[in-house]
Amino acid sequence: MTSQETTMDVTLRVWRQKGPDQPGRLVTYEAKGVTPDMSFFEALDVVNEGLVAKGEEAIAFDHDCREGICGTCSLTVNGQPHGPDQAATGCQLHMRAYKNGDTITLEPFRARAFPVVKDLVVDRSALDRVMAAGGFVSVNTGGAGEANAILVPKDKAEAAMDAAACIGCGACVASCPNASAMLFVSAKVSQFALLPQGRPERDRRVLAMQRQMDKEGFGNCSNEGECEAACPKEIKLSNIARLNREFIRAIFWSHEKHPETGAGQEE
Ligand code: FES
Repeated sequence: MTSQETTMDVTLRVWRQKGPDQPGRLVTYEAKGVTPDMSFFEALDVVNEGLVAKGEEAIAFDHDCREGICGTCSLTVNGQPHGPDQAATGCQLHMRAYKNGDTITLEPFRARAFPVVKDLVVDRSALDRVMAAGGFVSVNTGGAGEANAILVPKDKAEAAMDAAACIGCGACVASCPNASAMLFVSAKVSQFALLPQGRPERDRRVLAMQRQMDKEGFGNCSNEGECEAACPKEIKLSNIARLNREFIRAIFWSHEKHPETGAGQEE
């Protein structure tokens, strides 16, 4: 018997919540006849088809590309953002990660800055506002320049590309006991701060993003490391160290005072 012919039955405990201000609860569903080759979301589709056929409301869950690219999927599987697979998003999880008869609990990402919209869908627009606060870079929008006109060391270019791999899914926030967005913000700061093109606005950018991050209600980093472990794009904690350096540097060169120590240049 091939894996395609094997079927399995699993029990799903799914967080159902009608709206942002409504109480939520875990509801049990049986997912019967799913195959190990199905993606986890395809199994959810099967459950939803059964619910709709019975006249019940389908389980709302976020997804778009289903290829680990867009960062839209945002659920925890048995308490782990994106489920048990390393370096993978929830949409890349397959039923082969589970056994026949398993019980799997699905909940939305939990964080004060990510209010539940419905069932497994949360509002992550706080991350968009942090990005928007970062603003622009001073790129020359004229004709394509000579490729070697701005020299970028290979190690810096690669580190910037690694940081730019962040898809803004919010798993770092959901996995952190402080619901901190430091890994996300550090990736977005690093992808520009490492490159010459991102230097002109580096001070203004890091201060604005840090300020917006605090305003949105994200917590601070206490070096738990859960964010790095949960990140589907393997964004490194070293980016947070860079964010802190960029922040301290910006405080020094700007006229802002450090929010905690009060240090900074006077007008
Ligand atoms: S749906 Fe796009 S990354 Fe999961």
